Amino acid sequence: MPDPHPAAGEEAALAAAGEQAALAAAGEQAALAAAYRVGSADIPLWPDGQRIDALSAPLMASTHFADHPRYHAALAATILEMEQSPAYRDWIFKGGCGMKVRRPDRWGNPAADLIHGRALAFAHRVLSQHDVYTDDCWASVYRDGQYCLPHSHLRSNVSIVYLLDEGDPDPDDPMAGQLVFADPRIPHCCQQERGRVTSLLKPEMTPGTMIVFASDYVHTVGPYRGHRPRMTMSWNVTIKRLAGNAAASFL
Ligand SMILES: [Fe+2]
Repeated sequence: MPDPHPAAGEEAALAAAGEQAALAAAGEQAALAAAYRVGSADIPLWPDGQRIDALSAPLMASTHFADHPRYHAALAATILEMEQSPAYRDWIFKGGCGMKVRRPDRWGNPAADLIHGRALAFAHRVLSQHDVYTDDCWASVYRDGQYCLPHSHLRSNVSIVYLLDEGDPDPDDPMAGQLVFADPRIPHCCQQERGRVTSLLKPEMTPGTMIVFASDYVHTVGPYRGHRPRMTMSWNVTIKRLAGNAAASFL
C-alpha cells in the first residue's frame, strides 16, 4: 500500500512516475516539443495559423510549411549523411521507390525530429485529435530513372508524404517523379463511373508540402529524371501501437 505521507523526494519521484505513465498511456503526439532548435533557429512544431486543406478524397488532406527554408538544407544534408550508414540505407530495386533511409525519428537530429514531430502533429489533427503512433517512417532519395510501382501501405491508418526536394524538372515529361493516386475509393479518380478509375489524383506539392492519406489508397511515383536527387519523407501512422514488424509492410 503506498505511504499516505511520502517525503518530498518521494513525492517528486511519484509525480515523475505518474507523468511518465500518463505519457506512456497517451499517443506519441503528447511527448512532442512546442519548438525545435535547428542550428540557431527555434522553429515551432506547428506554426500559428498553419492551414490544413482537404483534398478530394475521404481522409486526405494537405498542409504547406512556408518556413521550410529554415530547416531544409540541414534536413537534406542529414538524409544524405544517414544514407551512407548500412544501419539505415535500404535499397529494394529500381521501381521500389528510391533509396530508403530508414527511421529518421532515431537519428537524433533536430531537423529530422522537427519534421517527424510535424508529421505526427498533422496526423493528430486530421484524425480528430486521436492519439497517434509511428508504425514506420523513412526518407526516400530518388535518382535518375528510379520510380515507385503502384502500392498501398499495410498496417497503418494514415500515411504521410513530405516533399523536401523535387529535384530537376523533366522537360519531356511533366509527370516525372510525381506522386499520383489511382484508387476506386477516391471520387476524383472515378469521374465517369463510380468505382472505375479513369483519372489520376495528383496533389499539388512543392517543397514544404505534407499530405496525409488513408494508407490503403493505391499510389505511385513516375520515373524521375534528373541530376539532383529528389527527396521525400514518409510515415505510416496508427491510432494504436501495433505489435510486430513494420518493415515488410510496404513496397
Ligand atoms: Fe507509398
